[in-house]
Amino acid sequence: MPEPKDVKDYIRTIVDFPHEGILFRDVTTLFADPRGFRLAIDQLLNPYAGLRFDKVVGLEARGFILGGAVAHQLSAGFVPIRKKGKLPGAVISEEYTLEYGEAVVEVHDDAIAPGERILLVDDLLATGGTAEAGIRLVERLGGEIIGCAFIVDLPELGGRAGLEAMGMEVHALCA
Ligand code: PRP
Ligand code: ADE
Repeated sequence: MPEPKDVKDYIRTIVDFPHEGILFRDVTTLFADPRGFRLAIDQLLNPYAGLRFDKVVGLEARGFILGGAVAHQLSAGFVPIRKKGKLPGAVISEEYTLEYGEAVVEVHDDAIAPGERILLVDDLLATGGTAEAGIRLVERLGGEIIGCAFIVDLPELGGRAGLEAMGMEVHALCA
C-alpha cells in the first residue's frame, strides 16, 4: 500500500516563474486532485473547529478557490479581495509589495460590517505583503480577524513574522 500523501506532496515547484530566481509553488496540482483538495480544505479548517465566523475573506486569485470551499464548510459568507479595478461597487484600497512586484488590492466598502468575525484565506504566504494589505482592508471596515490560513508558508521571506507582529494567528499546512 502506498503511503497516504501529505498536502505538500500534491504541490509542484516551477523554477523561474514568473521571473528568473523565483521558485513558484504551483497549487493547481493540489486543487486538481480530489483527495488533495479535500485534504487541504479539511486541514485549513482544523484549528477553527467549534468557532463561529461571519465571513471568509479570500485573496485573489487562488484564495478564492480555497475561500469558497472553506466558507461553505463554516456556513459563513465569502468576501473577495481583488486586484485594483475589478470590483464594480464602491471600494477601499491598499497598496502593497510582493515577492515579484507591486500592486493594489480592493474590497467593497460594504462587504464587512463592524465586529464581524473574519477568517482570511490564501494559498501562500511569502513576504506577507498581500495578506497584510488584506488585513488592513478588513480592519478598516471594522472586521475582527480571528485567523489567517494558508496552504504554504515560505518563512524565509518573513511573511509569518510580519503577520504575527500585527497580532495575527497564522495557520499554514506546509513550508
Ligand atoms: C500570490 C499568492 C499570494 C501572494 C503571496 O498571488 O497567491 O496571494 O502572491 O505573496 P506575498 O506574501 O509576498 O504577498 P499573486 O500576487 O501572484 O496573484 P494571483 O493569485 O492573482 O496570481
Ligand atoms: N507568491 C509569491 N511568491 C510565490 C511563490 N514563490 N510561489 C507561488 N506564489 C507566490
